[in-house]
Amino acid sequence: MNPTRPAAVIILAAGEGTRMKSSTPKVLHRIAGRSLVAHAIVAARATDPEHLVVVVRHGRDLVAAHVLDRDPDAVVADQDEVKGTGRATECALASLPADLVGTVLVTYGDVPLLEGRTLLALVEAHAGAGAAATVVTAHVPDPTGYGRILRDGTGAVCGIVEQKDASEEQRAITEINSGIYAFDAATLRDALGRVGTDNVQGEKYLTDVLAITRESGGQVRAHVVDDLWQTEGVNDRVQLAALGKELNRRLCETWMRAGVSIVDPATTWIDSDVTIGQDTTIRPGTQLLGATTIGAGAVIGPEVTLTDTEVGDGAEVRRAEALLAVIGEEATVGPFSYLRPGTVLGRRGKIGGFVETKNARIGEDAKVPHLTYAGDVTIGEGANIGAGTIFANYDGVHKHHSTVGRNSFVGSNSVVISPVNIADGAYVAAGSALQGDVEPGQIAVARGRQRNVDGWVARARAGTKTAAAAAEASERHTDDTDSESAS
Ligand code: UD1
Ligand code: CA
Repeated sequence: MNPTRPAAVIILAAGEGTRMKSSTPKVLHRIAGRSLVAHAIVAARATDPEHLVVVVRHGRDLVAAHVLDRDPDAVVADQDEVKGTGRATECALASLPADLVGTVLVTYGDVPLLEGRTLLALVEAHAGAGAAATVVTAHVPDPTGYGRILRDGTGAVCGIVEQKDASEEQRAITEINSGIYAFDAATLRDALGRVGTDNVQGEKYLTDVLAITRESGGQVRAHVVDDLWQTEGVNDRVQLAALGKELNRRLCETWMRAGVSIVDPATTWIDSDVTIGQDTTIRPGTQLLGATTIGAGAVIGPEVTLTDTEVGDGAEVRRAEALLAVIGEEATVGPFSYLRPGTVLGRRGKIGGFVETKNARIGEDAKVPHLTYAGDVTIGEGANIGAGTIFANYDGVHKHHSTVGRNSFVGSNSVVISPVNIADGAYVAAGSALQGDVEPGQIAVARGRQRNVDGWVARARAGTKTAAAAAEASERHTDDTDSESAS
């Protein structure tokens, strides 16, 4: 048996979280693009446990579904009506094999900054010392609200007392219980069986396991951490924002150390699952969300929001919003572009200012530079879509798809009334309202012929400045013709 592979990690997530004042269960609130409980699961998985259990009660169905969606191998355990962290742990053990041996870690579903490597260090310290119980503690400037660590005359941990049960003297202790522990499985099971509810809150406290273990001769240790953020829980939305900001600061720092330039980390938001290549520059006001991936040597921002979007090496994206889009290598997007799901921009392609795209495949070197709606369209490589072109994909009942061929050219202010196929090497005249296909080498002119009516201004707008200008201009024109004929 590998002593540093935990038999189980138990994540406690059954608490009510009343201070969030939310219809959403607390552990489903998000920071850095992940729910609080998902952060806890990621940290737990880093220790490669044989079993991972999440204890649920409040918002049970929502939390259970979310946990199994994130981690299908997790076990969801229901806590009954008996309250307390001890009871929650007992309910988790009941869902595990009765003969479970080895190390059991207990963590919380609302402590999102806890890192996997901290849990690994805890297991190592616990197993290395052959301890029966090891509690993660921290020395904090203000211990109010936390359980306090009690040590005997030799400095050994002998118990934990909750704030509400503590004496004045005990409340002065600044070493606090983080709520994260490593236990020997059998010791934990035995001790929990002996924990009562004789305390101010009438709950079954997990913290009581420490004193019970020690009294029955087991070794109880503390694993002190310096990084206080890692043990901090979310109780309300103020803490949610504070921890979210700190996690973002850490993520930005990690990417900068990996070779990404972030001009202004304070206005840059990067979700946990995002990846960014080396020598990419992130300019101010940028949010990289969800499963977004950015290649190397790209320039993103200012003011860009990308969600679940893939950006190739060397691409440049400025003042844009994209969701479920793919932006090819060396392509350019923005400013003021809106890329909706299914947008795939080819290598060196361009989506320019005031352009909205949806389900649009735009080929290599193709350009959609200005003022366009391109929905449900395939644009071939090297094609050029003139300013103001609209692909009218919706007839009020159905959506239709159009194609623009390779190196074809759609003139400005055209409406392509889908479905239309424009072949390779074809032209559409500016201002067309196109409803039929265009064959290779053709130009389609789909607009009214120009008709000029002589003398209309003089007749219909007599006495206006326009009429005067027309009179002056035609006089000058007559003079010019006269002098021409004289020479
Ligand atoms: C607990 C500890 C305290 C420690 C603090 C650290 C106990 C008795 N106290 O106090 O020593 O300093 O955490 O943050 O353990 N939970 C359940 N079921 C329950 C009750 C809680 O699953 O019946 C879960 C909650 O969802 C939460 C965690 O356990 O994730 C801690 O619960 P909370 O009520 O916040 O405990 P504290 O009173 O803060
Ligand atoms: Ca708490």
